[in-house]
Amino acid sequence: MDKEIEVRNICCIGAGYVGGPTMAMIAKKCPHIKVNVVDVDENRIAAWNSNDLAKLPVFEPGLEEIIASQRNINLFFSNDIDNAIKNADMVFICVNTPTKTKGLGAGYACDLKYVELCARRVSRNAHGHTVVVEKSTLPVRTAKTIKEILSSANISKDKSKINKSFSILSNPEFLAEGTAINDLEKPDRVLIGGDEVFAINALRKIYLNWVHEDKILSTNLWSSELSKLSANAFLASRISSINSLSALCEKTGADIKEVSLAIGTDSRIGSKFLKAGPGFGGSCFKKDILNLIYICRHFGLIEVANYWEKVIEINEWQKNRISQLIVRKLFGTITDKKILILGYSYKANTNDTRESPAKNIINDLLVEGAEITIHDPQVREEKIIKDLGEPSNNQNESSFNKWIYSKNLDDSFDNVDAVIILTEWDLYKNLNWESIYKKVRKPAWIFDTRLVVNKELAIKAGFRFWQLGGSHND
Ligand code: NAD
Ligand code: UDX
Repeated sequence: MDKEIEVRNICCIGAGYVGGPTMAMIAKKCPHIKVNVVDVDENRIAAWNSNDLAKLPVFEPGLEEIIASQRNINLFFSNDIDNAIKNADMVFICVNTPTKTKGLGAGYACDLKYVELCARRVSRNAHGHTVVVEKSTLPVRTAKTIKEILSSANISKDKSKINKSFSILSNPEFLAEGTAINDLEKPDRVLIGGDEVFAINALRKIYLNWVHEDKILSTNLWSSELSKLSANAFLASRISSINSLSALCEKTGADIKEVSLAIGTDSRIGSKFLKAGPGFGGSCFKKDILNLIYICRHFGLIEVANYWEKVIEINEWQKNRISQLIVRKLFGTITDKKILILGYSYKANTNDTRESPAKNIINDLLVEGAEITIHDPQVREEKIIKDLGEPSNNQNESSFNKWIYSKNLDDSFDNVDAVIILTEWDLYKNLNWESIYKKVRKPAWIFDTRLVVNKELAIKAGFRFWQLGGSHND
């Protein structure tokens, strides 16, 4: 088809961590385009429309300002999915693609039910020619399935009703939470996969409003889909690599911060993604590697699958070894000991808790009978209740769930036996350990899994101190 499309009206299905910020950026940079972000979740849409910007469903530095300037100007949030599709020249599919929990491929394969539902809905409601853009992270060759569903729209008994056609593009999103606005505004690259030049150009034209043309790559559909899984697998493998070495540092007297610096200054290696920590979290890395493993097994590439599986194994091992080590350091028992957790989100500057290492570590400590206080500057108590269950202090119950949520950091230290830093929020970086030491029960420990505490100051204040990948940890 040799034609040009002028995109005036966008529909984005899925108002989550990707759909919300990505569409906000398009609305900001393209005032001539009307952007409708739709979702089945009424509460989420209500939160996006809230007058109180602190109630937006996604916390991202810089997001509130864009919402304030664009909302109800050329950026709209609603549950009216069908109408938004009907009016759109371009539809972004931005829904969640979780790991399947049952059936064929359970535990590994990506559950495409939400994507399929979207494709069917687009197929029913679209008019004229519509460019459908896969923004969700999808297994390689998903575009084929979407194409088949969309092309069934033209199978109608009444030939006069056939007035729709589709192009399909893959445009995976590489933003990281916590830096999403900056990543969207200054992307390293924008990737567009497709086989129809006019459709690729329509999407390219949107990005050209703020991204330099050299940064807009086009590939075939399958390369684009696979590149997204591969990028996440590569990034995660760097974290598992450095985390595996953090354990070796603790045994040998080397220090992981020094090792990271020394290897990261090699320009072939590069300094990013070399921070040792409690294991990678977030909704993407584990899910996408599991999906990659599934695809490799499907094609009989068992060694390749096993290679990537190790990245996840090391990640699980890192979380477990931290919980075990804490118990061992606290004289082998933490029953009824008070432990303060600083940070619950999977990384700083987001309120997202999906796959947060904090969940695993806290659960391990609860099983051991500890009394846990949890502080996080952005994660709300309701979210933690969803993850850990309602707190319970009932001594008659066989399994206690002894955790409380702390709103006030200063009041959280009273009588605690240990402070564990699990997220690298700025406010945990310069705590006054000397005054904190007066409040804790002695001997008291600091376990720093994010390498943010000044070891000398902590030890000078009187604390026993363990830092991930640190020398002299014993
Ligand atoms: P999310 O769970 O925050 O949001 C997805 C939204 O889609 C939800 O609000 C849900 O209600 C909605 N939804 C699901 N099915 C729907 C349907 N049939 N109709 C309308 N709405 C529907 O997910 P997310 O973090 O935004 O991720 C979305 C996709 O982007 C995933 O494939 C993910 O792998 C990928 N991705 C995520 C990130 C990230 O940092 N979170 C980064 C890059 C890519
Ligand atoms: C990731 C990818 O970076 C992004 O490109 C993709 O679009 C979505 O998945 P995200 O999960 O939001 O983004 O955050 P990221 O910064 O990648 O961190 C993921 C996890 O790795 C976090 O738990 C973080 O704490 C951890 N991490 C990251 C480390 O432990 N060390 C590092 O050096 C970097």
